[in-house]
Amino acid sequence: DWNMGQVLEEQLQKIALLVGPTEHAICALSGGVDSTVAATLVHKVLGDRLHCVFVDNGLLRLNEQQRVMDTFNNHLHLPVTCVDHTKPMLDRLTGVSDPEAKRKAIGAEFIEVFKNYATELEKTLGVKPMYLVQGTLYPDVIESCPPPGSGQKHSHMIKSHHNVGGLPKDLQFTLIEPFRDLFKDEVRAVGRLLGVPEQFIKRHPFPGPGLAVRVLGDVTEEGKLDTLREVDEIFVNCIREYGLYDEIWQAFAVFLPIKAVGVQGDQRTHSHVVALRAVNSADGMTADWYNFTPAFLRDVSTRICNKVRTVNRVVYDITSKPPGTIEWE
Ligand code: XMP
Repeated sequence: DWNMGQVLEEQLQKIALLVGPTEHAICALSGGVDSTVAATLVHKVLGDRLHCVFVDNGLLRLNEQQRVMDTFNNHLHLPVTCVDHTKPMLDRLTGVSDPEAKRKAIGAEFIEVFKNYATELEKTLGVKPMYLVQGTLYPDVIESCPPPGSGQKHSHMIKSHHNVGGLPKDLQFTLIEPFRDLFKDEVRAVGRLLGVPEQFIKRHPFPGPGLAVRVLGDVTEEGKLDTLREVDEIFVNCIREYGLYDEIWQAFAVFLPIKAVGVQGDQRTHSHVVALRAVNSADGMTADWYNFTPAFLRDVSTRICNKVRTVNRVVYDITSKPPGTIEWE
């Protein structure tokens, strides 16, 4: 086991050596553990030469923008600019249904936002940020590509993590990725050392491409994202109510591109099917589905079908990783 105090010191020194005394950096904040801890770490070295940006890409969970901005402002005291990129992102995803194509498009669109933000900083503050801070983890790197020079015959390529596989070759920024060699639990330990509040440290992982990898196929069709947001909120709230949130690595809902026949209030319905997924994992590389009690599953399914008009069927995913991955795309 590595000593996280030592890792933290090493990273602080490395950044101080890399970034010149008058140079600036941009940090892409997602509201998740990794990027938040990365920002907090880099902020210790760069202070107000670090410019954090949170992108509302139209693929966030219910009220997530507000929740995240409140946390940054009230608890973390990190100065953050919020950029609304909903429309260009959803426009770009129109008609895109292949999972890898979606991931690549989202990654590319994120880079557009960072470029625009850098231009904006140049105009308003007269500074030209040369660095981009990301909370990339070790599993993101190995699942996105075989390690360079590894001479491995078999590619590890499972899916392009948005912040690795979607990067352009001619990226104008030098990357600062202090957690490229770390697993999530190690980043959580570093976050605790940096004084990041516990409620934040314990947040379930959420993928950068957001709900786009949880609406199977084309995401842009009317209502899909809204339905998913409602279901997800009910599911996660139910988990909190039952006191299970901290026992589970990650839990979320998936919108399936199919409809099923049902009967609601004596009426035949032809509505959407959603899947619920909850897993336990040590590092995200392998995972086991979470064994809820039948009473919990009954309760959550009833709540969803009663409250979400557009859903008449709920299924629970009982697949481990492997053979499934945690996300469905
Ligand atoms: P998979 O689906 O590969 O997910 O079993 C493993 C863990 O990684 C998260 N994940 C991502 N996180 N960018 C991220 O920041 C991504 O592109 C991405 N894809 C998957 C996933 O939620 C799980 O925790």
